[in-house]
Amino acid sequence: MPRLRAFRSSILHCLADPGAAAGTPDGIEYFDDGVLITTDGIVSELGPATALLDELDSGVSLIDLRGKLIIPGLIDCHVHYPQLDVIGSYGTQLLDWLTRYAYPAEEKFADAGYAREVAELFADELLANGTTTALVFATVHPESVDAMFEAARARNMRLITGKVVMDTGAPASLCDSAESAYAHSRDLIEKWHGVDRLGYAITPRFAVTSSCAQLKAMGRLAAEFPAVHVHTHLAENHDEIEAVARRFPEQRSYLDVYRHHGLLRERSVFAHCLHLDATDRRGMAAGGGAAAFCPSSNLFLGSGLYDLAAMDDAGVTTGIGTDVGGGTSLSVLRTLGDAYKVLQLKGQSLAPYRALYLATLGAARALRLDDRIGNLAPGKEADFVVLDPHEGSVTSRRVAHAGDPGAAFFAFATLGDDRDVRATYLMGEAAFERRR
Ligand code: GUN
Ligand code: ZN
Repeated sequence: MPRLRAFRSSILHCLADPGAAAGTPDGIEYFDDGVLITTDGIVSELGPATALLDELDSGVSLIDLRGKLIIPGLIDCHVHYPQLDVIGSYGTQLLDWLTRYAYPAEEKFADAGYAREVAELFADELLANGTTTALVFATVHPESVDAMFEAARARNMRLITGKVVMDTGAPASLCDSAESAYAHSRDLIEKWHGVDRLGYAITPRFAVTSSCAQLKAMGRLAAEFPAVHVHTHLAENHDEIEAVARRFPEQRSYLDVYRHHGLLRERSVFAHCLHLDATDRRGMAAGGGAAAFCPSSNLFLGSGLYDLAAMDDAGVTTGIGTDVGGGTSLSVLRTLGDAYKVLQLKGQSLAPYRALYLATLGAARALRLDDRIGNLAPGKEADFVVLDPHEGSVTSRRVAHAGDPGAAFFAFATLGDDRDVRATYLMGEAAFERRR
């Protein structure tokens, strides 16, 4: 017997990129009183309650969420689970921050038990924040990858992670070699990629911490396994960019270092992309790479302001990323609020529905998973979030006065936090429910 579920709620999602314009553009679908029907975890029908309730079989359990807002599961395109314990650490920019906070935190993941403990906590926190899919940095230790995949698998999350590879410019305890990085990454791909909802990402940390030989080995792996992701950092900080230019003087740009080593291709996701020129932006789009826009981190580490309009114009796909622990919140909603502020400083305006898009369908496109997730169209995996402002809060008053669903969503992004996530569903099943 197929497992049928029906949910009655206000429902908002994107069918296409709504673009930069404000208002209610074509790509948005909204049902004030909607019904979402899932069959064995897949969306089978979505529409107005008036049309769908009559035909619903009396045996199907109807979950009544009227007064709340269902949106697709949020997607975090760049986050580091081992940095949970150094989130919000004071006083440094990128390269010092790595040395002072990130690397010591990551050294603890040599202990598989510790890795499991943090991975479990991290997975639970994602769900409590409405995040149903994430592209995640682990550490150099293969056990840290096992721990993250096991935690995601136990919860049935769609999650992508991979072993960090570094062989220079980092503590020896966190370094591997070109050969061991290749062998361990390959073993992990064979063990995990495509198991349930899990995917692997080849994860050279950044060009600062890999030799030419190691980048080349990762490029070879990327060619051998085109279905896996490549996940790295690009052009985040000026000192970082200078270090890359010194290490690879024969390459025109930072992006060219990755391209030269076979790491720019479809399913390559580059975090930050703050200091690119027009040639790089066009090259990234032509090469099939996507960008993770990490505004919280970019503000916290003082890295710079993402140029969304220029990336859009060049045809680069952008998804949102929290970049915890450089970013200061696992909430994708709150990160969208930061994105709005960053773009204000660029003289750009992040329209409410575009913000929703960057965290759902746009993010799914950046990860090339939009055939499975990103909205609630029939045929998609039924991952979704139930937003419900916590009682008596400023958010609840603001949402009540919003007037239209875009304004309500914008209020959640600017004022909200995890307390507004009432429940998170994975493939039609409650994976998190907030007790009130
Ligand atoms: N660049 C290389 N590693 C990191 C990291 O851990 N965090 C951030 N924000 N940037 C990086
Ligand atoms: Zn990062």
